[in-house]
Amino acid sequence: MDKLLIEGGRPLSGEVAISGAKNAALPLLCAALLTREPLTLTNVPSLNDIGTMLKLLAQMGVKVTREKVGASGTVTLDASALDNPVAPYELVKTMRASVLVLGPLVARAGEARVSLPGGCAIGARPVDQHIKGLTAMGAEVSVEQGYVHARTTGSGGRLKGARLFTDMVTVTGTENLMMAGCLADGETVIENAAREPEVVDLANCLVAMGAQISGAGTDVIRIRGVERLHGATHRIMPDRIETGTFLCAAAAAGGQIRLTQTSASYLDAVIDKLMDTGCDITLERDAITLKAPARPLAVSIRTSPYPAFPTDMQAQFMALNAVAEGTAVIRETIFENRFMHAVELIRLGADIKIDGNTAFVKGVTKLDGATVMATDLRASASLVIAGLVAQGETLIERIYHLDRGYENLEQKLAALGASVRRVK
Ligand code: EPZ
Repeated sequence: MDKLLIEGGRPLSGEVAISGAKNAALPLLCAALLTREPLTLTNVPSLNDIGTMLKLLAQMGVKVTREKVGASGTVTLDASALDNPVAPYELVKTMRASVLVLGPLVARAGEARVSLPGGCAIGARPVDQHIKGLTAMGAEVSVEQGYVHARTTGSGGRLKGARLFTDMVTVTGTENLMMAGCLADGETVIENAAREPEVVDLANCLVAMGAQISGAGTDVIRIRGVERLHGATHRIMPDRIETGTFLCAAAAAGGQIRLTQTSASYLDAVIDKLMDTGCDITLERDAITLKAPARPLAVSIRTSPYPAFPTDMQAQFMALNAVAEGTAVIRETIFENRFMHAVELIRLGADIKIDGNTAFVKGVTKLDGATVMATDLRASASLVIAGLVAQGETLIERIYHLDRGYENLEQKLAALGASVRRVK
């Protein structure tokens, strides 16, 4: 298994380009299932999760054409020969986002068999809201032998538009139900919808494919079902979490960096918190420059659905607070087990106390390199940030977690002057 070896204690400086957003690309790839015509996506990041999703779609009968693997590239999907509406356990267990094929398959093919994703490191992550919504739209859904079986019963095998209310804000739940509504008979209203920018990016693409959607980005999304969707070309939005991760790294390690092909407009909560640490941030139309203070000030955070502080940035801010001046209180309200990076940061010398879903981080003046283990995608990013700050060498194990969500991370960090290399 690959490991990442980091020689810490060096400030960052230089410029990197941000890749396409993983959490926009994943639902967008599934949107191809909704039409017989080709869907072309550009700025698709080259990530393991993207590879897994393409494999999942190909085994369903979708024709996948991919240009320029290895860096953000173009993917064209043709689902005209969709003949196997099944998402098998072997693929779903490696990537929970596979559940995003459920809504489109039922809407397009009238049936779907999707393996339950099972839990993952950060929590149980059930899909009950996805099932509740599809059932309300007239699908017959049962869960047998670890698979969700869903099929339409209505005349002509179509779902029926319905008024849906999710018990909690769910990003992929909103995305699944929005895609299902595109081909339903009548109007679907999703209340308590997720407002994440990735939901808006998906809605924009669906509208380009002929869907009738209004309210994306607010907590009430209306979808008027149409007979069929057509092909389109759509550029994937920049990855706001990759952007936030690099900004956090510079705030913690010191120095000045410039991020291009990105936008600060989806990161208000994160930018505000970074300014509170004493960072000097300059925003341009599609670039962000951050100049770190000599030592960051501690900032407390509480994760919440968009537009509040994103849970996907919580681990990175814990690493930043580990070396900040003062004590920070971090509350994780979205997932029940998203503090696994804390024990690894403590191995590097951090002073962190966990009490339920609250972490108390007392900043220390320095961390010392050690061997640590990644447990999930954003926890891995947190360990990379801590490794950049720690004196001496930090060896991060199980970095396949990182490869799921960060494109060419070591090359980008090396371009910023970090000493990072992948070892077998
Ligand atoms: C999406 O996951 C993201 N993944 C996650 O990013 C992100 O952390 C999460 O949203 C929250 O912002 C993708 O978009 C592919 P949820 P998702 O449904 O949709 C509970 C990363 O690091 N819930 O919004 O799976 C759930 O357990 C990943 O890139 C139910 O109880 O998250 C959680 O506590 C990690 N029943 C909360 O809601 C349901 O049916 C929010 O989950 C659905 C969700």
